[in-house]
Amino acid sequence: MDIAVIGSNMVDLISYINRMPKEGETVEAPDFRMGCGGKGANQAVAAARLGSRVLMLTRVGNDMFAENTIRNFAANSISTKYVLRTEATSGVAPIFVDPDSHNSIIIVKGANAMLSPADIDEAAEDIKQCGLIVLQLEVPPETVYAAIRFGNKHGIPVLLNPAPAQPDLILDEVCGCEYFVPNESELSLLTGMPVDSLDDIRNAASALLKSGMKNVIVTLGARGVLWVNRNRDLFVPGMEVDAQDTTGAGDAFIGCFSHYLCKTGDVEYALRMANMYAADSVTKRGTQTSYATAAQFTEKLKEADGPEK
Ligand code: RIB
Repeated sequence: MDIAVIGSNMVDLISYINRMPKEGETVEAPDFRMGCGGKGANQAVAAARLGSRVLMLTRVGNDMFAENTIRNFAANSISTKYVLRTEATSGVAPIFVDPDSHNSIIIVKGANAMLSPADIDEAAEDIKQCGLIVLQLEVPPETVYAAIRFGNKHGIPVLLNPAPAQPDLILDEVCGCEYFVPNESELSLLTGMPVDSLDDIRNAASALLKSGMKNVIVTLGARGVLWVNRNRDLFVPGMEVDAQDTTGAGDAFIGCFSHYLCKTGDVEYALRMANMYAADSVTKRGTQTSYATAAQFTEKLKEADGPEK
């Protein structure tokens, strides 16, 4: 296996709205889609569609959503050996996408809240074969901390996407990750610093380096991405696209970055590819439904004159 994603899966219930209702008000929305989501699953699917061999350690519930989620992993060639059944509801995410393509998301973690450090022990022998561990924060923090310790113990680099933002994340516990990939609001919450300009963002990312992080990669949506470590400071500007739905674009970025990082070991190249992959994803509706396969992405790269490798 190339990548172990230890994290969440959700059922995305996406309403395309004209506006949010006020308290006590009912409004009609023009469109609705249901699909597979969850930050962990999304990142796994993006990496797998590009050709990585992905193992997913996650928990589904005992309801009608579980089978569909497992089928979806299998359909994307993701190993389901560690998709564990739980006496709980599956995770669900009601999502609202406004006419400007921006989204608001509620998550109900359900079974995801029961993914435990013991589950990592269960999958240990297979995770040890992977070249990268990818984590997010839709499962208990103890599990995330245990996964980072596991990666450090076995010499496997760890990427942590600290999403959704959690103010009580213990920075000392997560400093062991090789790649820390927040968006600007997560960066602001974790550092307590402003992120209004690129200089602000650079300062906040540098503060994380001072507290022991190795590589901080800040995703800035349509504006692009900033990567800082002790020797490098690289800003890759975003691409202009006709955005339809930004849901899951950050996950598309991380899945693609993980894929190319594992394949080439070249962080800058992986960032540039991920920037393009995420931009392509926002031109389509839905979460995983907007993620290109390797063949589709190759076509896009030709059109856009993307980076060669
Ligand atoms: O990042 C987008 C994802 O966040 C959605 O798929 C939703 O399930 C929530 O986890």
